[in-house]
Amino acid sequence: MPDKLAIRAVYPGSFDPVTNGHLSLIERARHLFDDLIVAVAENAGKEPLFSSDERFDLMKQVVEGLDHNGRIQVIRFTGLTAELVVELKATVIVRGLRAVSDFEYEFQMALMNRKLARDVETVFLMPSLSWVYLSSSLVKDVAYNGGDITGLVPAVVAEAMNKKIAGDT
Ligand code: PNS
Repeated sequence: MPDKLAIRAVYPGSFDPVTNGHLSLIERARHLFDDLIVAVAENAGKEPLFSSDERFDLMKQVVEGLDHNGRIQVIRFTGLTAELVVELKATVIVRGLRAVSDFEYEFQMALMNRKLARDVETVFLMPSLSWVYLSSSLVKDVAYNGGDITGLVPAVVAEAMNKKIAGDT
């Protein structure tokens, strides 16, 4: 049997902020692929809570807390995901699917990415059931309105969010 080719996957996202749902995806993807690059998009919609530096730093801290033998890298990027993936010589884009409501947007992105980079496949993973309801926007909404976000995001993120919302950073 020929040697198996190493598969490099890229998990792109805004991660504003990284939640336990994203973490669940990272954990799953690292068992499936030989190496995983978590790519934090510098451009994250209209008004991100965290700057791209902050989102990148938080993701780095969260990934450092995982036992991954150097198989997960965190990078930041601007421009097209499809171009990034080709540049990195990766063949897979990892995205999370929580519910049917995610499907249309994800389906469009996957097909557009395939058009832009035809040898790149998008692989959808489901987070653990406990995180199916979770999104960065909901966590922000809860936090903005004084709710408790403990257990929804990694501790370092909860601390950064609470500080940000209190106006300390
Ligand atoms: O976490 P998000 O906000 O759902 O991530 C969306 C992201 C960053 C993956 C997407 O907006 C993206 O790929 N942006 C880079 C620009 C790009 O490639 N746009 C065309 C997407 S088909």
